[in-house]
Amino acid sequence: LSFLLLLKNPSLAQNLNDDGQDVKRSHFPDGFFFGTSTSSYQVEGAYIEDGKGLNNWDVFSHIPGNIKNNDNGDIADNHYYRFLEDIELMSSLGTNAYRFSISWARILPRGKFGQVNPRGIMFYNKLIDNLLERGMEPFVTIHHHDIPQELVDRYGGWLSPLMQEDFVYFAEICFKSFGDRIKKWITMNEPNLLVDMSYIRGWYPPAHCSPPFGNCSAGNSDIEPPIAMHNMILGHAKAVKLYREHFQLKQGGSIGIVGCTEYFEPLRNNELDRQAVSRALAFTNAWLFDAVVFGDYPAEMRLYLGSALPAFSPEETSYVKGSLDFIGMNFYTSLYAKDCIHSACISGGDRPIQGFVYTTGERDGEPIGGRCGNPRFFVVPEGMEKIVNYMKERYNNMPMFVTENGFSPPQQNDQVEALLQDTNRVDFHKSYLAALARAIRNGADVRGYFVWSLVDNFEWIDGYSQRYGLYYVDRQTLERVPKLSAKWYKKFLANGSSNH
Ligand code: NOJ
Repeated sequence: LSFLLLLKNPSLAQNLNDDGQDVKRSHFPDGFFFGTSTSSYQVEGAYIEDGKGLNNWDVFSHIPGNIKNNDNGDIADNHYYRFLEDIELMSSLGTNAYRFSISWARILPRGKFGQVNPRGIMFYNKLIDNLLERGMEPFVTIHHHDIPQELVDRYGGWLSPLMQEDFVYFAEICFKSFGDRIKKWITMNEPNLLVDMSYIRGWYPPAHCSPPFGNCSAGNSDIEPPIAMHNMILGHAKAVKLYREHFQLKQGGSIGIVGCTEYFEPLRNNELDRQAVSRALAFTNAWLFDAVVFGDYPAEMRLYLGSALPAFSPEETSYVKGSLDFIGMNFYTSLYAKDCIHSACISGGDRPIQGFVYTTGERDGEPIGGRCGNPRFFVVPEGMEKIVNYMKERYNNMPMFVTENGFSPPQQNDQVEALLQDTNRVDFHKSYLAALARAIRNGADVRGYFVWSLVDNFEWIDGYSQRYGLYYVDRQTLERVPKLSAKWYKKFLANGSSNH
């Protein structure tokens, strides 16, 4: 069969070296989605305009000291007013998909305790209609970190089970308002990362943390993250159940969830560190995906967390299990994992995941891959092939999308020329795409790839200091300027495409 495939598509036989210099669009299947990704709070701005309510990030970013340079998303990229121009950018790149999220507080300024904001609905209607007109498939994330502040004030956000119904309420409005045109729904973005940032590290609102992370309000990092995660998974599964029962047949879309995925290599080439790798993979990736695919958390987590890990009732299991039509993977980095059960670990490691694993980007002072603007990220292209294979094996080759992959340069000085000549970003995407193409050639059912991000935007606690965009955004004028990587993506997409 593979011989026949090669005859049919000779480019599949070409070398796909790690540096990615040979990678072409034709290495990917017909109908593959190539897009860019953003999220509402990171690009929209217009934070109190046209009836939008305040959300947790509006409030958090306005407290001095929370965000680098005290930046906030009040204006961001002003995408709320410039979305037509941004669709032009996408269209000029030649992408056939765009992933964005819906601002919960723009649709429901007070969550379910107030009215739907018609101007919010109107904005997303215009966005969707214009995307479709320009041949871009919308991939819509319902919840990407931002929550109406009223829900935080009333019950503290995702630590409360009451959030589940609020999320379903919001999701239903989205299905009803936009579902006639949306064929790809994503319930939530990276719950596994969000609970880490919000309840272990204390970097994202509500900034709960425990030692070794300081400088935040006290929490209990053994108890809170699993609870918040449990509520998010139940909220997700209930929304999927609703979609399947009332909308899917009529509207003909599919629905999935996006997780933060990371790959791990053993710090030392020994059995203990190899076991640490599988625990790290379980506590990071499988925490989310085992739950939604199998209806239960990974056995490794149960072993280490015991009763701190909530359980799904039989009834809950029945709808949590299989609550996705596809897997969405955000993938940026690989790290080393070290066993901390049988040997001592330095405290305060990069990611002291429960499960007694210490993860780090360095071995004997040597980084695992090229450095990025985010000190926890390293350029390890082969990690892309490995994580896709891991997901393929573990989840029976369920359809997958790489919903985010991107790079911000380590030197974040505002030397515009250097930022525009982003050869490092071009190399990053080429090499990760080559690794992805290899995984696909070996049978992985990956159906799309989205660059994070279309434009430089608000990178959460790093504010505007981290620039992930294919387009540079001038912070004074908000003008978008194509970087070298935008020109490269355009060229890559124009060459060897059979469906364009
Ligand atoms: C993942 C998140 O979904 C996105 O919001 C963030 O900006 C990127 N990673 C880059 O860190």
